[in-house]
Amino acid sequence: ATPRVELTIDARSGAALNGRATLSEEAGGVRVQVWLDGAPPGVHAIHVHEKGDCSAPDATSAGGHFNPDGHDHGLPDAPRHLGDLGNIEVGADGSAALDRLIPAANLTAGDARSLLGRAVVIHALIDDGGQPTGNAGGRIGCGVIPASLP
Ligand code: CU
Ligand code: ZN
Repeated sequence: ATPRVELTIDARSGAALNGRATLSEEAGGVRVQVWLDGAPPGVHAIHVHEKGDCSAPDATSAGGHFNPDGHDHGLPDAPRHLGDLGNIEVGADGSAALDRLIPAANLTAGDARSLLGRAVVIHALIDDGGQPTGNAGGRIGCGVIPASLP
């Protein structure tokens, strides 16, 4: 079977949103699909952060961007942190969907490039690709990626 995990994304930093995501390993990487409802309209940065800990009210517990290769921050298609997913656009109705492949990532427990046990974080602002983390502002949503396959 295809290695696949699901998670929910919950609001943080006093924001409102509901979200869920699936991560599926496929040839060449891990496909990340995200759905949001009730979120603030506009363009929001989205990243995989290194720690699977969303417990802090502002989600700082999730640590920094997942960056096993020691790259600078970037937008998709540029050199970047492995966890840099770019942006998700929330419509006027508060809903959004994203489907993006993270090349050369995997869902193998213990692997240096594994996304298991990390976190998906949604930010207040757009990721503009600037250093060190895209000027994306606070963390309005956070979801823990399961640490093992179901
Ligand atoms: Cu982030
Ligand atoms: Zn980054």
